[in-house]
Amino acid sequence: MSNVFRVVLVDPDDSARDIIKSVLLNIESLWLEADCSRYEFFGDIVAQTTPDIALINIDSDPEKGIQVLTQIRQDFPSVVVMVVSESADGQLILSAMRSGAQEFLSLPLSASELTEAINRIKSTGGAGSPDGTLTNRVIAVGGVSGGVGSTSIAVNMAAALAGDPERSVVLVDLDVALGDADIFLDSIPEYSLADVTQNIDRLDLALLKKSLTKHESGVYLLPRPVQLQDNDLIRADDLSRVIGLLKSSFTHLVFDMSKAYNELDRVALGAATDVLLVTQLDLPCLRNVVRLMMSFEEYENLKEKTKIIVNRAGLDSGQISMNKAQETIGGEFYWQIPNDFGLMVDVRNNGVPLVIQAPKASITRSIIELCEKLNGNIHGDDDGKRTDKSKPQKKGLFGFLKK
Ligand SMILES: Nc1ncnc2c1ncn2[C@@H]1O[C@H](COP(=O)(O)OP(=O)(O)OP(=O)(O)O)[C@@H](O)[C@H]1O
Ligand SMILES: [Mg+2]
Repeated sequence: MSNVFRVVLVDPDDSARDIIKSVLLNIESLWLEADCSRYEFFGDIVAQTTPDIALINIDSDPEKGIQVLTQIRQDFPSVVVMVVSESADGQLILSAMRSGAQEFLSLPLSASELTEAINRIKSTGGAGSPDGTLTNRVIAVGGVSGGVGSTSIAVNMAAALAGDPERSVVLVDLDVALGDADIFLDSIPEYSLADVTQNIDRLDLALLKKSLTKHESGVYLLPRPVQLQDNDLIRADDLSRVIGLLKSSFTHLVFDMSKAYNELDRVALGAATDVLLVTQLDLPCLRNVVRLMMSFEEYENLKEKTKIIVNRAGLDSGQISMNKAQETIGGEFYWQIPNDFGLMVDVRNNGVPLVIQAPKASITRSIIELCEKLNGNIHGDDDGKRTDKSKPQKKGLFGFLKK
């Protein structure tokens, strides 16, 4: 179940409709699925789109507006109906509420009033969200240096998550210049992130899903563009809107971020419920962990949702010990994934994720358990995945960076 509500709007007045649309488009928890200029056609739109919320501006013709409201309440009882109007006429409000409107909001519509109305719906269990809890997980995977294994982890986590039929998983390749998530999934996608962001204004859920490539593991892939030139076409705002739409359809969004930590990566960082920062146990990586965590402090809640993952744990050459590494970063590692170079190279070259190619391998188990831990099903402390349970020193080797 998702925490983004899909909305359809009817308003015969073009300019009023545009203003309402602009308010809707700026609310993250809403996705405007369709809008319509005729009350007569609104029932069909609702039937075709099965939205969470039907929004009706009754000002053009209050009688027809209330008629369509009554019809929608009868035909689609699970759809929440909200009425908006410039009028403050008590009789009109009463009539709308008696006909089944769950909310009556005054125009001009304010984003905060609408958000409050949505929160009321969540808390009363309307619009398909019985307890109002946030159920999407948005996992942004990034590396602290080139080649640390972030794509391997993002792709294999996505495939592991998709193993549960209750989940629907989309993997977005944000490494727009050199991303290789498509290779890991052996797919030749038809459409890319550039196509989707550029067409966001006319996209609905059905079209979006058609633009994604489904892998046999169940993962839907949204790959990076083919041509370098197309990268500039991907705007951060449009990516935010694509994320909103994806959240209304998928339970899990996994981002394979670029190492540039650019504007697009920062959109994913902002949207993430969990940020996985992949490191190895060498000095350049650990220094970047410290640097990145310091930068993350500048963004609201980013540091708190970031988890540091050690990849290739157990690789001997040139590695710093787990204890020393935790001292160095002045914090604990959330998870460690064992080293298995042969298998990782195989799964990448074959384009078959670990859960399919080697479901019993310890690296596969580790990735599945990481997914479960993120989903709150297991705790690292209980199963000994954390190497060092002693308290790490707060100030690490790079403490001097923290002036
Ligand atoms: N746990 C692991 N054990 C052994 N080898 C691994 C492991 N994880 C990743 N690798 C290998 O490390 C190499 C780099 O992996 P990957 O491409 O996933 O890293 P990346 O951080 O996405 O790189 P890039 O900076 O190019 O995006 C690959 O050869 C991969 O097979
Ligand atoms: Mg990569």
